[in-house]
Amino acid sequence: MNAQKRRPPPEAADAEPEARSEPEPRPEVEPEQQPRTLDACRRCALWERATQGVPGAGARHAPIMMVGEQPGDSEDKAGKPFVGPAGQLLDDAMHEAGVVRKDVFITNAVKHFKWEPRGKRRLHKTPAQREIEACRYWLDQELEEVAPKVVIALGSTALKALLQDPHARLQEHFDKVIEHGGRAILATWHPSYALRAPDRETRQRALAHIVETLSRAGALAHGKRSGTE
Ligand code: URA
Repeated sequence: MNAQKRRPPPEAADAEPEARSEPEPRPEVEPEQQPRTLDACRRCALWERATQGVPGAGARHAPIMMVGEQPGDSEDKAGKPFVGPAGQLLDDAMHEAGVVRKDVFITNAVKHFKWEPRGKRRLHKTPAQREIEACRYWLDQELEEVAPKVVIALGSTALKALLQDPHARLQEHFDKVIEHGGRAILATWHPSYALRAPDRETRQRALAHIVETLSRAGALAHGKRSGTE
């Protein structure tokens, strides 16, 4: 016989003698998930703070695909890519380069807006490598469906996503046709850089490079192999 008396189970309050602060609830993340819709996507944590996922938009079989970084504040609210000031600059650049909208599909490397609060504003945060990789799932589908002849990486996040190289350096890839994964890729500045660079001359040079890259893409899309004829 066991003479030892069992201790009664501790009261709930006894079980946790130390005061602990409530742990922050973590957003649901399933890196291996294969969601059918952007709204269902939990491949990274960005879904939680975004209003909605923002898919690419444009002609279904457009010969030119432009890839930006991620939706901004306006795009997050509208559910459409490049509807804010960066989109206006791209529209002007396309006009100047003689590239027509019907030839373009426009999207982002990351489909949810990443931001942090700053007073009443939502301040853009650059996506992390793991978020870029998680979102390749959607970019791959768009690349496959649209099957563009030429892809323009707008800025470094887009280039890293397209080359699947976290160390890709934007300016090293300027002014050449990058053959990658059976696609022709051109790289240029992100339009926000052309809007926000500190001095006027830098902004003008960035815009001129975007226009030049777009007209090169137009030439490539219409069968001119070097993109310079
Ligand atoms: N910047 C981007 O990279 N994408 C958008 O859709 C808007 C701004």
